[in-house]
Amino acid sequence: MPLVRSGRALFGAPSLLGGQAAKAGLSCASCHINGRGNPHFLLAGISAAPGTADITSSFFSAARGNANFDPATIPDLAMPGKIARAPQGRALEAFIRNLIVEEFGGSEPSAATLNALGAYVRAVEPCETEKRIARGIEDQLRAIDDGVIAAALMAERDDSAGVSVAVAGMRHELGLIAERYAGPDLARERAALLAMSRALQEIGNREDPARALSAWKAEFDRRLSDRLRRSAKRSLYDPDRLARSLR
Ligand code: HEC
Repeated sequence: MPLVRSGRALFGAPSLLGGQAAKAGLSCASCHINGRGNPHFLLAGISAAPGTADITSSFFSAARGNANFDPATIPDLAMPGKIARAPQGRALEAFIRNLIVEEFGGSEPSAATLNALGAYVRAVEPCETEKRIARGIEDQLRAIDDGVIAAALMAERDDSAGVSVAVAGMRHELGLIAERYAGPDLARERAALLAMSRALQEIGNREDPARALSAWKAEFDRRLSDRLRRSAKRSLYDPDRLARSLR
């Protein structure tokens, strides 16, 4: 489902949101992890208890911010909520559009961007067991794949702003990978990640970003994918190492 995968990529891209949220590196996925809730979300001035957020805060948008501090529990988007999800209706897309523009001060999203986000939110489902599992390098590599799919789809629909958001989202995901490849013996992995991120930077402005991106992705896979998989045990994707580093 390229539309759903594109939506997932945009959902994780901070530059979809404007102003303070984007600067703080917040994306839809910061609050709705994998489209679900986030019981640990805690941001001073935005949250009351962990897992809550005031999305009408003037921190995010001077235009919309109300004077009240009224955080709500971050909802699990796999569950039915206040907003109708029927695909025939466009209530979900209208809600997401308002969220981006009015609450977060982001730029007006295109129809292609809203379609992708709506398709992703509708596709979020509860899991069979609901057992929590740690994020691994494969999940992050899939997020990079999703970014390539999103940028190609946005390019096909002549949505250059959507291409930029998708590319910025990929750079954000590369940064998240680099954070986990910590320590002196993984310096080469981090340097390669940084180089691949820099190479992405100017692709968004190209005449034909889709072609440049598939060349980029081929190089990423050749230079990095397997190397990252091989050294994942030495990175903070290893649950024991992560636990030790947080002590
Ligand atoms: C700062 C945390 C935060 C961010 C970032 C965020 N949300 Fe939410 N979201 C919330 C909270 C809190 C609510 C509940 C608001 C309420 O009930 O008044 C909510 C509600 C929703 C709902 C309605 C669920 C229902 O009741 O049917 C949808 C859909 C949604 N968010 C999608 C998104 C999308 C798409 C993005 C990115 C454009 C996003 N959210 C970004 C915190 C966040």
